[in-house]
Amino acid sequence: MLNQNSIKKCLFPAAGYGTRFLPATKAIPKEMLPVLTKPLLQYGVEEAIEAGLDTMAIVTGRGKRAIEDHFDISYELEHQIKGSSKEKMLADIRNVIDHCTFSYTRQIEMKGLGHAILTGQTLIGNQPFAVILADDLCDNTGVSKGVLSQMVKLYEKHQCCIVAIEEVPKEQTNKYGVIAGEEIENNLYRVNDMIEKPDPKDAPSNLAIIGRYILIPEIFDVLQTTQPGKGGEIQITDALLTLAKQGKVLAYKFEGQRFDCGSVEGFVEATNYFYNKEN
Ligand code: G1P
Repeated sequence: MLNQNSIKKCLFPAAGYGTRFLPATKAIPKEMLPVLTKPLLQYGVEEAIEAGLDTMAIVTGRGKRAIEDHFDISYELEHQIKGSSKEKMLADIRNVIDHCTFSYTRQIEMKGLGHAILTGQTLIGNQPFAVILADDLCDNTGVSKGVLSQMVKLYEKHQCCIVAIEEVPKEQTNKYGVIAGEEIENNLYRVNDMIEKPDPKDAPSNLAIIGRYILIPEIFDVLQTTQPGKGGEIQITDALLTLAKQGKVLAYKFEGQRFDCGSVEGFVEATNYFYNKEN
């Protein structure tokens, strides 16, 4: 029987078009854009492995074949570079492939993050799971474990939904889901309100949700009946509000640094940061 405390599956919504990176994303999934030599999605998968997860569930769409090929062995390539100095450059991805399994399902229509997560139900089943949005790239150098590790630990204690948050300048609340809540422990809030991308004047706080979630399977039932919200899309923030009203959502101000690699500016910032870290 599955241990109630263990989170083993991680869902990666990866069906979006990545229009902010056109023309780069015309034929390449945005999740495959590299920061230095590693695709964004691989950073996310490595964060999930570090948190003890071993089953990666990826919601893809048309034109995303490169994702499946990346998390697979490339016999010709590996044969070609065997014994050369290049071999070590495949060590990390080989390690990823050896330590977890990957499964895929396709989101046929783009109807929002909530809809993408609901599409992943077929891969997740009836158990708690994590969600990573790969374009939020997180690094925890010098602080503690990875963001997802920190959240899994909290889940083991509290057994409810957890969203990662950070403080943003008030004028940027319209880029994020924003929460309001009561601080019950240091850096941990019991959420009592959340709004998707509010105008700064309507924002309940400056605590913005970033792309790390732990969700309980009840979220799927809620998503089934969640009506389209902001932008005419089914929003995970709206579904979580239903559970928050039942006291089932915590928000955690994580330790570490996060880069918004969904924007060109954030992507460049991440690239510089990781380059300086490695050189
Ligand atoms: C999504 C969520 C939003 C969250 C953000 C984090 O928005 O809808 O609530 O704050 O991810 O990156 P997106 O950036 O996909 O528009």
